[in-house]
Amino acid sequence: MIVLGIETSCDETAAAIVEDGNKVLSSVVASQVKLHHAYGGVVPELASRKHMEVIDHVVEEAMHEAGVHGRNLDAIAVTRGPGLIGALLVGFNFAKGMAYAMGVPCVGINHLEAHLNAIFLEADPPPFPFVGLLVSGGHTGIYHVTSHTDMALLGQTRDDAAGEAFDKVAKMLNLGYPGGVILSEMSRQGDPAKIRFPRPFLDKEGFDFSFSGLKTAVRRHIETHPDTYKSQLSDIAAGFQEAVTDVLCHKIITAAKQRHCSHLVLAGGVAANQRLRERVREEAQKSGFKACLPSPVYCGDNAAMIAASGYHHLMAGESLGFMDDVYSRVRYGS
Ligand code: KG4
Ligand code: ZN
Repeated sequence: MIVLGIETSCDETAAAIVEDGNKVLSSVVASQVKLHHAYGGVVPELASRKHMEVIDHVVEEAMHEAGVHGRNLDAIAVTRGPGLIGALLVGFNFAKGMAYAMGVPCVGINHLEAHLNAIFLEADPPPFPFVGLLVSGGHTGIYHVTSHTDMALLGQTRDDAAGEAFDKVAKMLNLGYPGGVILSEMSRQGDPAKIRFPRPFLDKEGFDFSFSGLKTAVRRHIETHPDTYKSQLSDIAAGFQEAVTDVLCHKIITAAKQRHCSHLVLAGGVAANQRLRERVREEAQKSGFKACLPSPVYCGDNAAMIAASGYHHLMAGESLGFMDDVYSRVRYGS
């Protein structure tokens, strides 16, 4: 089954062609980072307009790269939520219109589920059940995943998402947007042990997270070291990254133990973080688990993961109705 995936939930316009839910024939991502850079974050109205401007080119490019023509396409999968409503609507209406014109089914996909399915785009995917740590700009949660479409939420952030904390700390340090990549690059030159930040919720039972206190601790450090903090940027970045990594790593390993899962999976933009990947691989190995990490291109927002999720919903006979709409927020997982 050849599925066209479309993703426009935030600041990436993406389209991909995926065969049978795991073979990527093309994956095109048009990032809007430059557009939002000057504002230090995503401006929803600008994001929607940019999606409108480029979506047909991005879809055309994905079809062209895959060598797929309209008549070979079996279905379309599109992100339905959560995300920015105006941004979601662009991809959603484009997909519905295209599917109607071509006479193929169209299925609406939950963005969080799709992130967790990104691992199936890789060779040697994990068997079910596994525990998945989803760490992105909008969400941080741990899931017990029993199938491509069934995921139980074990715990989530009570305030900021991990990616959001990276973005806010980078902004505080005047390093620009998006913060994750900038801070992780900067950490390479820093000493993670020099400035110790708190590890929120590390010792608490359960799988909830909280990152706003950690963000405040960084702010306090800046305020109490007004003359010196600028010369410590890489140590601050490394110390902050280490604190986030410690918490994430500890919780996912504990979840695997508690749920008796042999495999654990990372997903979402923050899963591209090299330090987190290293630590999770090491800790998993020590505890006898296998860590499965998607390639960095499938960690951040992309449409291949939407098509991968879509395949399983289509196989189950799902498709969107004419009146179905997008949604901005949802608690995903039973
Ligand atoms: O999954 P994603 O592309 O979009 C959402 O669904 O939110 O995640 C974007 C988030 C941003 O907060 C970004 O700063 C963070 O992922 N991120 C990283 C890295 N690359 C992206 N955070 C830490 N280290 C990275 N290397
Ligand atoms: Zn995402």
